[in-house]
Amino acid sequence: MNTLNGKVIAITGGAGGIGEATARMAHAQGASVVITDLEAAAVEAVAKSLGDRAVGLAVDVSRSADNERMVAAALEHFGRLDAVFLNAGIEGEVGPFDSRSDAAWEKVFAVNVHGVRFGVAAALPALRKAGGGSIVITSSIAGVRGASGLSPYVSSKHAVVGMMRCLAAELGAEGIRVNTLNPGPVDNRMMRSIEEQANPGHGEEVQKMFSARVPLGRYVTNEECAAMAVFLFSDAASGINGNTYMVDGGYCAQ
Ligand SMILES: NC(=O)c1ccc[n+]([C@@H]2O[C@H](COP(=O)([O-])OP(=O)(O)OC[C@H]3O[C@@H](n4cnc5c(N)ncnc54)[C@H](O)[C@@H]3O)[C@@H](O)[C@H]2O)c1
Repeated sequence: MNTLNGKVIAITGGAGGIGEATARMAHAQGASVVITDLEAAAVEAVAKSLGDRAVGLAVDVSRSADNERMVAAALEHFGRLDAVFLNAGIEGEVGPFDSRSDAAWEKVFAVNVHGVRFGVAAALPALRKAGGGSIVITSSIAGVRGASGLSPYVSSKHAVVGMMRCLAAELGAEGIRVNTLNPGPVDNRMMRSIEEQANPGHGEEVQKMFSARVPLGRYVTNEECAAMAVFLFSDAASGINGNTYMVDGGYCAQ
């Protein structure tokens, strides 16, 4: 299936986890991809492994100018922009609300909230020029539910759900659709970090506890999240705007 033939998609947080899986799946379905993350070598390696129709670029999403460079790269290499996947995020430190420093809050918000804001702002002129497009923001089950010990992260993931709803209302008339991907616990680096911080030396106990809360009985995979993002980029999702798309194994059903 080549559901993304001819589309140009810019992706943040593309060097690992959900972002890399999405870059690979979107590319396999015919898209040209600009893959961005903090380390140039890491994104260039992903782009090189894909061959044609892929470019890697070092981008820190918390810097407005870096987001503009990402969009400029899409226009320079591929001549247009049809979708952005604003996916880069950090879990921050795990711990009680009243032990979180100002710096810890600011760091999580700089990446998870302002990084998304800058990405949207940078992409809008190019999406308008293309006559419409799709913005997919990676939120989380933490964007619709609370979680003990993760107050900056949970607050940031709720914030981008609010941002998405405002954008969907504002941009729908221009044919620009805005939605969030909301994964449950994913079997990847970020969950290993959260598990280890929650119970140092016994992360696997935390993993068992989280898995037991998922009706499917397991974490979801990077590829299962990527499949939702790819669908939301595609014309098959042309009527879908302004909503949260859970890939959580049923976590939020309970
Ligand atoms: N892993 C999970 O269980 C889970 C669950 C729900 C939501 N999410 C969200 O999914 C998204 C992707 O995370 P992941 O699970 O693939 O984990 P990950 O840590 O493998 O990927 C996040 C990527 O973002 C990059 N990044 C961090 N700060 C950045 C910055 N300032 N500029 C550019 N890139 C930056 C990292 O280098 C990394 O490659 C994140 O927004 C995360 O919050 C993850």
